[in-house]
Parts: sequence; C-alpha cells; structure tokens
Amino acid sequence: VIPAANKNHRRAVRRYPSGMESEAMMFFGEFRIQPADPLLSIMGRFAADPRSRKMDLGVGVYRDDSGRTPVLAAVKDAERRLLQEQQSKSYLGSEGDPVFVKLMADRVFGAGASAEDGRLAGLQTPGGTGALLVAAELLAMNGAGRKVWLGTPTWPNHVPILAAAGLEIVTYELYEVATRRFRPDRLFEAIERAQPGDVIVLHGCCHNPTGADLDLDGWRHIADRMAERGLIPLIDLAYQGLGMGWDEDAAGTRLMLAGLPGALVAYSCDKNFGLYRDRVGALFVQGPSVAETQALWSTAVAIARRSWSMPPDHGAAVVRLILEDPALTLSWQTELSEMRARIARVRAGLAAYGKVAGIDLSGLAHEHGMFAMLPIGADAVERLREEAGIYMASSGRINLAGLQVDALPAFVAGLRAATEMALA
Ligand SMILES: Cc1ncc(COP(=O)(O)O)c(C=O)c1O
Repeated sequence: VIPAANKNHRRAVRRYPSGMESEAMMFFGEFRIQPADPLLSIMGRFAADPRSRKMDLGVGVYRDDSGRTPVLAAVKDAERRLLQEQQSKSYLGSEGDPVFVKLMADRVFGAGASAEDGRLAGLQTPGGTGALLVAAELLAMNGAGRKVWLGTPTWPNHVPILAAAGLEIVTYELYEVATRRFRPDRLFEAIERAQPGDVIVLHGCCHNPTGADLDLDGWRHIADRMAERGLIPLIDLAYQGLGMGWDEDAAGTRLMLAGLPGALVAYSCDKNFGLYRDRVGALFVQGPSVAETQALWSTAVAIARRSWSMPPDHGAAVVRLILEDPALTLSWQTELSEMRARIARVRAGLAAYGKVAGIDLSGLAHEHGMFAMLPIGADAVERLREEAGIYMASSGRINLAGLQVDALPAFVAGLRAATEMALA
C-alpha cells in the first residue's frame, strides 16, 4: 500500500547542507513506483465486486467446494497443541529446526533419505521463495555469470529471483500456450545446447502455470543427459501431493537425485499444508561427496543468516507436530487427498467439454495441479471479468481450484462469449 499524502499534517523538512544535497538527493530521487503485483490487484477487484456468482481463478491458493481456502484440521489441532505445549520462543539457528528438515526430507525423498549417505542436507526457509533465493545466490557463486535455462511460461517470480542473484537467464518455450501443447523436446534440446556447469530449472510437479509435467521416461532421460553433460538441476517443488499423488509427484525429483551427483531442490510446504502466510519451506542440497554437501549447506546457511537471520518458526513447528504424530499425519494426508481429488474432478469436468470457442480443453485431464493456461488475450480476460464476473490472471492462467463443479457450465458459457466477442 502506497502511503497517501496527508495534507493537514505539515512537518518542516530539514535540508542537507549545500554541496552534499545533490548526492544524497540522488538516492532519494531516483526511485520509481513499481507496478503493482497483477494478481494481488485482481484480489482487490474481486473483493469489491458485488456479484454473488463471481469466480476467483486468479490467486494461486487452493479453494474447496464452497470457494474457501480452509485451515486444515490437522493444522488447527497442531496449533492448539503448540499453544499448550510450546515452552519457548527463543531464537532458532539460521538453518531452522533440524527436526522439521529431517522429517520433511524423509517424506519428500523417501524414508531414510536424510541419513542415507550424508550427501543430502537441508535448511528451513521462509517458503519456497526463500529456498529459491538461497539457491539462486549459491548458483551465482564459484563461476561468474553462470547460465540458467528456464522454460517458459513459468512462475513470474523465477526471473527476478534468478536475475537479482546475477545469473544469466536463457529462456526457451516449454509450452505453446496458443495450441496448449507441452514441448518437452525443447527442454531436451536446451540440455544438449547448455554448457557444463549451466543450470536447468525444473518444476518438480504441477507446473505453474501450465500444469504440464514430464512423465517418468522424460525424467529418466533428462537425469541421464544432464549427468553426462555436466549440468546442475534446480528443482522447484512447490505442489507435492496436489498432482497425481504424494510419491508420484516427487518421483521425478527422486530420479534426478539418484541420477546426478549434485542437485538443489527448493521446497514449499505452503500449498500442501495450506500454510501460505506462515511461510514454510526448505532448501535441500545434494553434493557429489559428504564434504562437498557440508560445505554447500554451510554456505546456504550463511546466506540465510545475512538474508533473514532465521526463518519464521510457527508454520514449520506445525508441520513438525503433524509429521511426528501418526493421527495428525493421517488427517493431513486425508485432507490433501481430498484436495487433489477435487482438482482432478474439476479438470475432468472441464476437459469433457472438448473444444470451446476453438480452445481444446481435453488436455486438462492429462495435466496436473491447480493451474492451466488458456490461450486467450488480455481483452478476453477483461471481458470475462466484466461480463461474467470471472477473474483470472491477464496471462490467461486459471486456478482450477477456484472453480466449483456446478459452476463449470457458467464458466464455459462465459469463456465462449468472451472469446467469440474478442474474435468478432
Ligand atoms: C512454482 C512455484 N515455486 C515457488 C513458489 C513459492 O511458494 P511459497 O509461497 O512457499 O514461497 C510458488 C508459489 O506460488 C510457485 O508457484
């Protein structure tokens, strides 16, 4: 929120001495108002829309059948327990809670993974975003202007995070939005063109914004070729459990860790535990040897130390309590399965329409997670909002979890009307 000027309140402004003024004023005078986050501004417009049958397909949070983003029952239980039992809020270390990290590592990578051979280590971060920031800074070390290959379209925060760390970004079109066609062949080509030491960014599952994921043969192929070509994977795993299943969604990541000497995995617990604002995530690093892993990990912790000193505790403490208690674990897994099943129902329901206004929706049934790209222009997006009360990102990304199954006919009718008007 940009502070508004208060005309009634005038405070005398002390000036810098002349001669010093221009240098100091250059600092204050050179900033520009940054564009508002488009999705956050959609949130505001949606809230202000009085229509009762409006649909919010914009912001990337899970919604249940009644359009709510609930606090999971297991989270509520764990929070109650935390309130009763927590003895101290004294500082954690920069690496966060090692028990949370170990429990997550074993869940994500398979039982025993954290202890297996000492080549996998992790630290708790403020969300997946914090993990990506540390990963980007690590990758910018030990090699000036390292290249990072990024398939497009991708999560809009990837580019600024990687670029701010000083990495050189090379993009390639991983998904043709106009035809809704996934092009893994372009990723395979990028891997052949990349130089040893380059980084390949991969979405572990439930690609944001396209929903198009590699199959296991694809993952096996890239693990092999990346190992042979000396490339470094940065895997962004932010939606485990919301695609095909808990283990299925991590299968590609596990293949990469098994098939390559080293890898970085930026993990988010914010979606699969519904903890968004509590900022829960982890960065996992794997090195070729125990000694290299330890040095990589300790450098990651040093980056965390100078970035946020230590991660917020509450959400990770909740995740830890859930994973330590079999009853809470079962409750969480049951609710996560329900979320996954609901997303799959919406996908299947929409896919069954086949072609709508020239857009082939049938592929939605084979894509995963909350997001999909519709090849519609910003004008059609605006028409959908104005005419039908359907809100989405101007890129054409929709959050399928924002759709109720009984609202699918209205969504399809709105889409047909908006795109046909745009064509006319
Ligand atoms: C692909 C991807 N990576 C990372 C994140 C960041 O997640 P977090 O909210 O945990 O920082 C998101 C969030 O939308 C995402 O879509």
